[in-house]
Amino acid sequence: MESSDIRNDLTEILVTEAEIHAKLRELAARIDADYAGKDPLLVGVLKGAVVTMADLSRALSIHVETDWMAVSSYGSSTKSSGVVQIRKDLDTDLAGRHVLIVEDIIDSGLTLSWLLENFASRGAASLEVCALLRKPDAAKVEIDCKYVGFDIPSDFVVGYGLDYDERYRNLRDVAILAPHVYETAS
Ligand code: IMP
Ligand code: MG
Repeated sequence: MESSDIRNDLTEILVTEAEIHAKLRELAARIDADYAGKDPLLVGVLKGAVVTMADLSRALSIHVETDWMAVSSYGSSTKSSGVVQIRKDLDTDLAGRHVLIVEDIIDSGLTLSWLLENFASRGAASLEVCALLRKPDAAKVEIDCKYVGFDIPSDFVVGYGLDYDERYRNLRDVAILAPHVYETAS
């Protein structure tokens, strides 16, 4: 029987909302200093980065613009396929821009390595990555990520924008999803 309370589907809260907000303030202070006078373009990767983008961008004091990219590499599985498809491209011309990609999580790194290559060919003045979470043990390709929130184990996590099959994005913390949720899913 499916429970309607999200918390029954979690084994452990990994990072609390308060810890995330404190970390984002730290990262924002570095970004404020690094990008002073540069009017960077923050590019969020839909949909997982929505919450990180909302909180990170509001922790900044400098002028920024934001844009969004939608790619898919996952479906409802918990493993990256490595096949990336653009579902929504940017509205902004990257030529001469200082671009900071904002991601929820770097898992295998396959999505970001593809995005970095794609963006590099569009003539950006600089290109960096900010990721709230990173799973070092799951890396299949090395990503040079300048701003990292938390290194976490390779468990599948949800919350703070991260989903399993489009659910759990509204959970305020980052939590490990109980295996019974995806093992019994049809
Ligand atoms: P990668 O290509 O394996 O690095 O994964 C990229 C995308 O997969 C992330 O932006 C997430 O949307 C999704 N993803 C990877 N790991 C998790 C997880 O533990 N929970 C939820 N989504 C994840
Ligand atoms: Mg994502």
